[in-house]
Amino acid sequence: MNLLVFGSVNIDEVYHVDRFARDGETIASLSYARHEGGKGLNQSIALAKAGQAVRFAGAVGEDGAYLLDYLNEYGVDASRARVTGTPTGRAIIQVDASGRNCIILYAGANQEVTPDMIDSALEGMGEGDAILAQNEISRVDYVIEAASRRGLRIFFNASPLTRDMDALGLDRVSVFLVNEIEGRGLTGRDDPEGMLDAMLERYPRTSVLLTLGDKGAVYADGSRRVSQAAIPVEAIDSTGAGDTFTGYFLQAELSGERIETALRRAAQAASIAVGRPGAGRSIPYADEVDEALARLDGTR
Ligand code: RIB
Repeated sequence: MNLLVFGSVNIDEVYHVDRFARDGETIASLSYARHEGGKGLNQSIALAKAGQAVRFAGAVGEDGAYLLDYLNEYGVDASRARVTGTPTGRAIIQVDASGRNCIILYAGANQEVTPDMIDSALEGMGEGDAILAQNEISRVDYVIEAASRRGLRIFFNASPLTRDMDALGLDRVSVFLVNEIEGRGLTGRDDPEGMLDAMLERYPRTSVLLTLGDKGAVYADGSRRVSQAAIPVEAIDSTGAGDTFTGYFLQAELSGERIETALRRAAQAASIAVGRPGAGRSIPYADEVDEALARLDGTR
């Protein structure tokens, strides 16, 4: 089974603040840091650290070519990614004293993804293989269409929501990965159960993983719902926690683990990531996750 992540790469410009800036206000940051980020990069690293062989495709500018080396360092095969003449995507991130974040994106090279790039990245892939995409690059509609034509399983993290969601051909998705904001935006429902009902009614052949931050996560398909509580941690920076959850959940799912096991490992991995600064760099390795779970079992 080959897994391709087709997604974004960003340079994260992170400003730590006591509280988020308000309308019309200028505030001083407590510190500044530049980190590796982008949902595509973060999720690829989470998958690799969880033990999954993973290929990455996407686009950066020359200023972000080092990020492809960064992916390679973690064992992600980034040979299908392209370096373009457009600057690498940027994320301007405020992280407040309780570790919450607010993100503004500049798409940059992430918007230079073309059908040609997508076709060539998918070369050699077919039935039995899988793709994971997010909604931070151009032509996500074509990623889904081309992957579906080749018979791939399609995992789609519907993040961030954009106005054209209905044009993406989402009925071809095998598994949706959404947070509460995305679930609300896609369904118009406020309660998690209602979001899951509405998603499964609209896309009856799919399954849905709904992450709920410190309220945990719920997995749903046509026959069952499985809940997982969040694992408490002192929050430092929640950036990339959802990506960590996605990568760990997907690795376990693709390895044939029970959904309960996949959710628990993902929750533990995300909890560790929330306790550390940064996005890609905050993601733990599998042995750290296993040790933390063993400690949790020992304290029961
Ligand atoms: O999910 C977190 C990521 O969202 C950040 O790394 C940022 O780059 C944005 O893509």
